[in-house]
Amino acid sequence: MLMIEGGSILKLVGISGALAGWKTNVVVSEVLKAAEALDSNLETELIDLRDYDVEFVRGEPLAYYNEDTMNVVNKVSTADMLLFGTPIYQASLTGALKNLLDFFQVNAFKGKVTGIVTTGAVEKHFLVSEYQLKPILSYLKGLVPTSNVFVHNDCFDEDNIIIDNDVTKRIKKLAEEMYFLQQSMDSKKG
Ligand SMILES: Cc1cc2nc3c(=O)[nH]c(=O)nc-3n(C[C@H](O)[C@H](O)[C@H](O)COP(=O)(O)O)c2cc1C
Repeated sequence: MLMIEGGSILKLVGISGALAGWKTNVVVSEVLKAAEALDSNLETELIDLRDYDVEFVRGEPLAYYNEDTMNVVNKVSTADMLLFGTPIYQASLTGALKNLLDFFQVNAFKGKVTGIVTTGAVEKHFLVSEYQLKPILSYLKGLVPTSNVFVHNDCFDEDNIIIDNDVTKRIKKLAEEMYFLQQSMDSKKG
């Protein structure tokens, strides 16, 4: 069972940075489900950014922002593990996700595993997670797993259900790596 010091249960928060379609939401949800399957005591929460009115960063203290913004930033700050999902937009992450990440200070993700999933229409853009999102998470001191999941649009059916078994395997692998990395970091702390 995955416990942190003092016996409290770990929380994994997944963020879907898509405001338009649903593929990213589906992939993030599947990783959360795969993580829950590893430990029924693991708490998970999906934050779909379209459900919240997150304001643009203005460089002011968090208390000056609206309730949704404070709520999302606090949920991310207090999570033990994080999963960031984004569709690829213009060979990068979405503006919505980048804006959320701009709220955090340099050590914000220290001691947290920060996984990545991406969806896209261009096969070669599987590298975007490595070259665009990973450096941001590393800058914030998140521990980025070696596995990440890029899901091409062809791997979904018309209802956005994942139809590629290899993708399902990679989702499980990512959940496992995140779980065991976090467990290993927390055991070192204790
Ligand atoms: C504004 C915009 C820009 C995009 N740019 C790219 C891109 O550079 N590379 C790519 O692979 N796909 C690109 N796409 C396609 C989306 O990444 C892809 O359809 C994704 O699966 C959508 O995810 P969603 O259903 O969660 O919104 C773009 C889509 C939009 C709307």
